[in-house]
Order: sequence, then structure tokens, then C-alpha cells
Amino acid sequence: MANYIIINGSPREGNSKEISEFIDENINDDVEIFNIKDKNIEFCHADNACKASGECGIHDDAYDLINKLEECDGAFLVTPIYFARLPGPVYTLIDRFFSKFNPAKGMKEPDENKKLGYVFTYGNTEEELKEAYGSMAEQNAVPLDF
Ligand SMILES: Cc1cc2nc3c(=O)[nH]c(=O)nc-3n(C[C@H](O)[C@H](O)[C@H](O)COP(=O)(O)O)c2cc1C
Repeated sequence: MANYIIINGSPREGNSKEISEFIDENINDDVEIFNIKDKNIEFCHADNACKASGECGIHDDAYDLINKLEECDGAFLVTPIYFARLPGPVYTLIDRFFSKFNPAKGMKEPDENKKLGYVFTYGNTEEELKEAYGSMAEQNAVPLDF
């Protein structure tokens, strides 16, 4: 059985939570929903300790998630859009990926067998969104039949 992680980036129980649960219910696999609002995620300390030790020195929920993402078969990011970008807590999580990122030693190629999906929930119209996100929205947005 495949193993998927859904990261719900909303700080409330709203649209992203509902969509995360919809995906979970419709995937016939082992799914974990990581609700960012319930997690303890420290800011990246930016002290480069991970570059010396090879792993993040902050052992919180982000640490556990980042290590699980390496092992899982795929992941989804389901998140609201705030001010035409991702919400702050999602950026805090993304910064923590610095521990897996070491250009000085060569980039590790992403595993092409892993699947990554994302769902952005937002209040703007489709046209307003395209204006804000340009080609990314045009090329990658896939309507979710829901
Ligand atoms: C602080 C804040 C900023 C937002 N900025 C945008 C925005 O720039 N564009 C947009 O379309 N919707 C914006 N929204 C609306 C949310 O993206 C939308 O309601 C989303 O579906 C909320 O997801 P949730 O229910 O999972 O929290 C904003 C909402 C908040 C609270």
C-alpha cells in the first residue's frame, strides 16, 4: 500500500481541511494529514548547523514531517492563498527544508516516482488569480471535481 502525506496549510478548519479530507477519503492508500495549525514548527535557525551535521537540529513536528516526506510515495500541499502568496506558516515550513538542501554538495535529484499534488484555495476569480500568478496558474492549475 502506498503512503501519502497531505499538508494542510490553513490556520483554521475551513476549505483546505475539507479538501484534505476529501483527498484522504478518495485515495485507497495510507494517508496522513498534517494540519499545520496543530503542529509545533520552529523557524529555521539559519545557523547552518544542518550543513555540518547533515540533519536539522530542531527536533519538532517539521523535523518529523521532512523525514517522512523522504520516505513517502507522494504528498499534497493543500493551502489557502493569502495576499497572492502562501500563508506565513507554510513559508516557515518551507524554510525548514534548508536541512535537505545543500547546493555546495550537489543537489539531490527528486525521485521521479514520487507524486506531488497541490491545491490552492482562494477567494479571487479565476481571471484575478491568473493575473496574480501568471503562467504558473495557467500551466499547472487542474480543476478539482468536488
Ligand atoms: C489574510 C488573508 C489573505 C487572503 N488573501 C487572498 C488573496 O490574496 N487572494 C484570494 O483569492 N483570496 C485570499 N484570501 C481568501 C482565502 O484564500 C480563502 O478564503 C481560502 O479558501 C481560505 O482557505 P481555508 O478555509 O482553508 O482557510 C485571503 C484570506 C485571508 C484570511
